[in-house]
Amino acid sequence: MLRTHHCGELRLKDVNKEVTLCGWVQRKRDKGNIIWIDLRDRFGITQLTFEKNKTEQKIIDLVDSIGREYVIQAKGIVVERESKNPKIPTGEIEIRVTELTILNTSLTPPFTIEDNTDGGEELRMKYRYLDLRRNPIKDNLILRHRLAKETRYYLNEHGFLEIETPFLIKSTPEGARDFVVPSRLHPGEFYALPQSPQTFKQLLMVAGFDRYYQIVRCFRDEDLRADRQPEFTQIDCEMSFIEQDDVLQMFEGLIKHLFKSEKGIEFDTFPRVSYQEAIEKYGTDKPDIRFGMTINNITHLAKGKNFQVFDNSEIILAISAPNASNFTRKQIDELTEFVKRPQIGMGGLAYIRFAEQEIKSSFDKFFTTDQLIEIANYCQAKEGEIIFILSGNKKKTYKAMSELRLELGNRLGLRNNNTFAPLWVIDFPLLEWDDETKRYYAMHHPFTSPKPEDISLLTTNPDKVRANAYDLVINGIEIGGGSIRIHTKELQQKIFNVLGFTQDEANKQFGFLMHAFEFGTPPHGGIALGFDRLCALIGGSESIRDFIAFPKNQAARDMMIDAPSNISTEQLNELHIEIKL
Ligand code: AMO
Repeated sequence: MLRTHHCGELRLKDVNKEVTLCGWVQRKRDKGNIIWIDLRDRFGITQLTFEKNKTEQKIIDLVDSIGREYVIQAKGIVVERESKNPKIPTGEIEIRVTELTILNTSLTPPFTIEDNTDGGEELRMKYRYLDLRRNPIKDNLILRHRLAKETRYYLNEHGFLEIETPFLIKSTPEGARDFVVPSRLHPGEFYALPQSPQTFKQLLMVAGFDRYYQIVRCFRDEDLRADRQPEFTQIDCEMSFIEQDDVLQMFEGLIKHLFKSEKGIEFDTFPRVSYQEAIEKYGTDKPDIRFGMTINNITHLAKGKNFQVFDNSEIILAISAPNASNFTRKQIDELTEFVKRPQIGMGGLAYIRFAEQEIKSSFDKFFTTDQLIEIANYCQAKEGEIIFILSGNKKKTYKAMSELRLELGNRLGLRNNNTFAPLWVIDFPLLEWDDETKRYYAMHHPFTSPKPEDISLLTTNPDKVRANAYDLVINGIEIGGGSIRIHTKELQQKIFNVLGFTQDEANKQFGFLMHAFEFGTPPHGGIALGFDRLCALIGGSESIRDFIAFPKNQAARDMMIDAPSNISTEQLNELHIEIKL
């Protein structure tokens, strides 16, 4: 070992010990007679001291040549500091250095290795190995490690087996595009990287493994956002001989275990909200229930009063914002601009200001005071609130209301990063109609079981069929999703049929699974949790990139290794690929 201790370890009790430390030079301060070096490693920072008249001259000369991020080894005696630093755990001691070795030099880093760095995002991504030296990012990865460890602990304790599944597979239809890998041995053929191990985990149930898990990389070629990466990690699980409630209980238990072990937070039983209720109350299937402000459908109260905007709308929705009746004209204008942005696309924002003793609206010409009060009462608004109203097409207006609700939640300080509000959204529709391609798509994936009582609707009223599918949502973020699966060939074939697959197509793509169903497949179901999202949520961040050691940027590039990149003609030839740009 090149060291006796690490840089976060020494305390007053170690005074007079002779120690050897190794690490990076965080900072060097020269105060004439005395020089200090803050030596940093993964575990912390320890102060080294060199006194010009006491320390050997050759060591002082060496110190002079040392710059930021040099890697050094220092031997010396632990002494009590005169001026202590209560901000760091080693702040009561320092090392009076007697031997010094430069293990390696360093170029001046392109940004400061400090908690608050001067480096921009692109630069930090290019030099990610330096960014990872900074405490905030380093701590995120350590948090990730702890959560992975606790996840394994919990699932192992509950009889799950960790089993690896292949990365070079045939495409699984989960809605996103596949990343594909050309085959050298089979000209013109491609593997796909898994969007998830969905079919494999089901086959493991056919094989009788009963409970499976894997903390596994998944690959999806989709547009990126703060909570999406082209390669990301799932806690992927499957169980046999269970019903929906068993899966929910088991994974509610996992989430409780993780929050307890990491944050000391204990949750009550998670609320369960149906998809329909989620849409009606929050305008989204990923509701942030840290705060109320639920949506009211006031169509019956607001239509037919000669206000064209309302009268021409399919639906009129309202939410009442607490402590907002003193919002200024400017604040309301900002909110109006917010809902008019192309991403939301509303025509405008109406409101009723419910101030003390006075109720006024942006559409006073058309409504009497009593009619406004009727709306306010329906929304259970109290004095001091503003009721915001959006109207238009049903789907778009619910979505817009959901965005407005979140924006108001932000502005009113109701979305605190240290509060966590988990819930299950259940009873999702099985199918989703797509107007463009004029066909149904599986809302979760095609292996999801319809509710047995709804199976008869498959041919008569497919829109009404509910799935045995569930999502775990925390603070408005979709953390996980899963379902009870189909386990008979007949039902699976029927679903493929409703999804517009011919028997031939279904057999070609999923024959292996349907055939497996003929060999005694147990009833089974499971879930996958987005591990990066879970880490970011618990770590109090919006961006999952900060919790991935080597993430891709917004344009799906790895800035550090410069990928994707061209490959040589020889490689292309070997893969039988001709590039046409
Ligand atoms: P689903 O597609 O819902 O389900 O994915 C499960 C969870 O994975 C996370 N997630 C992502 N995280 C980061 N970047 C992405 N691009 C990304 N895409 C998804 C989300 C999501 O809830 N096989 C099914 C699960 C099952 O049925 O058991 C599946 O993959 O948190």
